[in-house]
Amino acid sequence: MTTRKNRPVAIAPSILNADWTRLAEQIADAEAAGVDWISLDVMDGNFVPPITFGAQMAAAVRSLTPLPIEAHLMVEHPEDHIDEFIAAGVNCVTIHIEATRHPHRLLQQISEAGVEAGVTLNPGTPLSELEAVAPICDRIQIMSVNPGWGGQQFIPESLARIREARAMLDACGQESSPVAVDGGVNESTIRSIVEAGATWLVTGSAVYNDRESVAEAVARLRRALDALGR
Ligand code: DX5
Repeated sequence: MTTRKNRPVAIAPSILNADWTRLAEQIADAEAAGVDWISLDVMDGNFVPPITFGAQMAAAVRSLTPLPIEAHLMVEHPEDHIDEFIAAGVNCVTIHIEATRHPHRLLQQISEAGVEAGVTLNPGTPLSELEAVAPICDRIQIMSVNPGWGGQQFIPESLARIREARAMLDACGQESSPVAVDGGVNESTIRSIVEAGATWLVTGSAVYNDRESVAEAVARLRRALDALGR
């Protein structure tokens, strides 16, 4: 039986930093490397400055891999978009608590559609904002960078927030809901992130970069986790 303490750690590469001119190959490489999820960073140019892609990309990625897909909606009014991402076949929709007046209803809607309901928050938002929805979400995602770009530095204050999110989920009987972390996860930060209680890691530039192959990059992260006994 896997107790919460030593639950396996999921690696979820974000395609944000992948080479989009050969996306099918990049996703196949991640799958072959043994990643657990594919994460899609959806940005609308309003909630965050960049614009990336919409549900059409989710449907395309869905057609490319059997891996579970998470759509991280960095968009204003996510309530206007969740249906199209669910229809595209994603397995988890993660919304920002700052982006909607009705997070509780929205998370219920996502769950009722049979899709995992994730909630996330910017580094400047107090964790207490999640108290009312922690009991109904399937995961809390800690943004450990200010959202919008890959390749940023991990914000060290995020470690305390990971611990706080873990305690919040445990306190409301959500021991099986993971704490996810997104931003600056790499070989040098992974130990402290996992020791703080995270078991679901969005990794962008640590997997997709011009220094090494996807296989080598994922193997590097797995070695770091193995060294932790995770
Ligand atoms: C921020 C994005 C990034 C991305 C991960 O908006 O969500 O955090 O997924 O990028 P890295 O791993 O390069 O920080």
